[in-house]
Amino acid sequence: MGTYAVTGAASGMGLATTRRLRTEGHTVIGVDLRDVEVVADLSTRAGRHRAAAEVVERAGGRLDGAVMAAGLGGVAGRERLILEVNHLGVVELLEAWRPALAGAGGAQVVVIGSNSTTLTPMIPGKAVEALLAGEVDEAARRLARFRGRAATFAYATSKTAVTRWVRRTAVTSGWAGAGIRLNVLAPGVVSTPLLDEQLAGGERKAAEGLALPVGERGRPDDVAEVVTFLLLQPAARFFCGSVLFYDGGSDAWFRPDDWPTSGGLRQVVSYLRRSRAWTRQQRR
Ligand code: NAI
Repeated sequence: MGTYAVTGAASGMGLATTRRLRTEGHTVIGVDLRDVEVVADLSTRAGRHRAAAEVVERAGGRLDGAVMAAGLGGVAGRERLILEVNHLGVVELLEAWRPALAGAGGAQVVVIGSNSTTLTPMIPGKAVEALLAGEVDEAARRLARFRGRAATFAYATSKTAVTRWVRRTAVTSGWAGAGIRLNVLAPGVVSTPLLDEQLAGGERKAAEGLALPVGERGRPDDVAEVVTFLLLQPAARFFCGSVLFYDGGSDAWFRPDDWPTSGGLRQVVSYLRRSRAWTRQQRR
């Protein structure tokens, strides 16, 4: 039986995943603001640092996997917290846990992203890059221009940044090369307290306009089932830097032909350059 860290373990998808893993006999070290083993505020550097260290200590220096589900929805007034929790609350913890994950020999990590990454038009690329560079002040400054919609864009920015971080990081020698699989599950509308709060906070119209071809919202227990598959099934090990949309068809409805795309001439140059780099790396 394995030992797993789950952030956001007190509610919604994190709680459902925690229960599911425990039912299967695994040990879960929950991280959240309340009702868990490691109570920590992931919106502060000190809280993230403490959470990271305490989890490793409780796990005895070895983690079989992690589920990064702590997150804040796009509610006005929380823009900075959204950036800190949804992006740094994933990246800083996973970087600190990397040795413990590598030590398990075959660890699986699932980051909960969002389909807001593709369904929010005009996410500011410079804010995403700033966040990826760890410049939260700069990202917040760029988002302030959106005024009344700043929280919505902060949310989409945070999820885009964390998704790109996963795609950049998952394929590196320190992660894929160390046997760690790092993937994103990108849900659409799932019935959780976060969604209830967003609906109560003026997002009802946007939520109702979001096409849901399957005809019903997602359920946390079903998300937990999918996450558990990614964590526990050997067949899932071929997923690496993947972004799995779990959204009842919303992304496909709005953007059926936007991707996959093969890119243009610049893509050819980049492909050849990276292909050469890969070959060189293999010869070393
Ligand atoms: P939830 O609100 O039920 O659970 C989120 C958990 O994160 C809560 O227990 C909360 O206390 C914790 N958290 C928030 N701020 C924290 C902080 N500063 N420090 C430590 N823990 C903190 O929400 P839900 O829906 O289960 O969300 C899970 C993930 O799924 C989030 O990352 C969310 O952005 C994402 N998501 C949710 C969707 C939905 O429709 N519910 C859709 C797409 C993505």
